[in-house]
Amino acid sequence: MRETTYDVVLYGASGFVGRQTVRYIAERVGDEVRWAIAGRDRGKLESVRAEVGIDVDILVADSQDRGAIDAIVSQTRVLLNTAGPFALYGDAIVDACVRYHTHYVDITGETPWVKGLIDRHHLQAATDGTRIIPCCGFDSVPADLGAYLLVRYLQRELGNNCTHIKAYYQLAGGVNGGTLASGLNIYDRGELDLVSNPFLLNPPESVPTDIDRHRDPTSPQYDAEMDTWVAPFYMGVVNTRIVRRTWALFDRWQESYGTDFSYQEYLKFDPPWARLRAAVVVGSMALIGGAIAIPPLRSLLESTLPQVGSGPTEQTMNEGWFRCELLGWGSQGQRVRGLIADVGDPGNRATVKFVCESALCLAVDFDRLPGGAQRGGILTPATGLGDVLVERLKQAGMRLEVETI
Ligand SMILES: NC(=O)c1ccc[n+]([C@@H]2O[C@H](COP(=O)([O-])OP(=O)(O)OC[C@H]3O[C@@H](n4cnc5c(N)ncnc54)[C@H](OP(=O)(O)O)[C@@H]3O)[C@@H](O)[C@H]2O)c1
Repeated sequence: MRETTYDVVLYGASGFVGRQTVRYIAERVGDEVRWAIAGRDRGKLESVRAEVGIDVDILVADSQDRGAIDAIVSQTRVLLNTAGPFALYGDAIVDACVRYHTHYVDITGETPWVKGLIDRHHLQAATDGTRIIPCCGFDSVPADLGAYLLVRYLQRELGNNCTHIKAYYQLAGGVNGGTLASGLNIYDRGELDLVSNPFLLNPPESVPTDIDRHRDPTSPQYDAEMDTWVAPFYMGVVNTRIVRRTWALFDRWQESYGTDFSYQEYLKFDPPWARLRAAVVVGSMALIGGAIAIPPLRSLLESTLPQVGSGPTEQTMNEGWFRCELLGWGSQGQRVRGLIADVGDPGNRATVKFVCESALCLAVDFDRLPGGAQRGGILTPATGLGDVLVERLKQAGMRLEVETI
């Protein structure tokens, strides 16, 4: 193992999510983990350090200053990145992580940016055994670990492959300015076509011929399994791509989910008014999409929504919650049910728990990770962290359950 000054560096530590990662790591780890905080503004980082009441080093580098980024990345075994939009601030960091063999996690949901990382870095990181794992926040850990748990349960406990999984989300919480900025940046770069490709993140040889079966749902529908109305889940365009990449990577390593596999996501509404609420969500998404394309409406929208650097109140974040229910079908007709759930705003409290525990898997539990020391590449939470992350999340109070129906 390479000698480094730190086990984990938190980059972007003065951002809205970044500040919460500092608090989480400070409360969660003792002296066994050597960590530091990093970002572009020393003054802001000093304030975070004082606010949390910790005595850790501060490392400073603007994301565009490749020399300064190299100096940070070369000093740590693991880099946890929360500075986004990642398409604007993430390239030099991942590039340095690949060159210095520094393992990496982040909370991006920007699939076009992840596609670029795969094209530029997968081969080298795979050759070197460097684990680069984007999408370790609410996008896409529940989806990826949920699907993984159901598939492996069907295989190990019931002796069957899994043919199909449906995930149903219910949630309460707020929105961060940084999240909106990342979405708008994808729109401004003209990348919506990439976003709509169901197999954007798959190796080309793993894309099935029956692609239409995997297209994103677009309208509200009655769901017989749940006996209520559902809408397309707005983060499904990220999560389904990660689950499909996991499916393809495991297949390549002879740890297959099965050849005939599909995964979709929905937002679930309990009665009363389930049908109406599903229709309102779909209609609102279409209206917002339309308004963004008209400059005066976009300016109006932007002025009313949270700005970069801000997010929900402490009360909203503490009172938030999420439930991701999963149903899986086995190749011989068996059915299994899964649940991933926690208290706290999904985009903040849960995201912070997901990404910090992911970084700690790499820093503390590396020898137990799936695939051994040689596994590397642009990975997913399930392929890069798997059961070790499941265990850590359970220890951190999250519900992750699977059972036969
Ligand atoms: N996966 C999920 O569920 C999830 C949830 C929440 C957020 N996110 C994503 O996480 C990202 C951050 O969200 P947030 O709410 O924390 O946003 P934020 O508060 O706006 O934070 C942005 C961070 O980027 C840093 N930054 C800006 N320009 C930089 C530069 N040139 N060099 C280096 N750093 C720079 C900022 O530094 P300063 O502090 O110095 O300004 C800040 O630390 C967004 O991309 C968002 O979409 C994902």
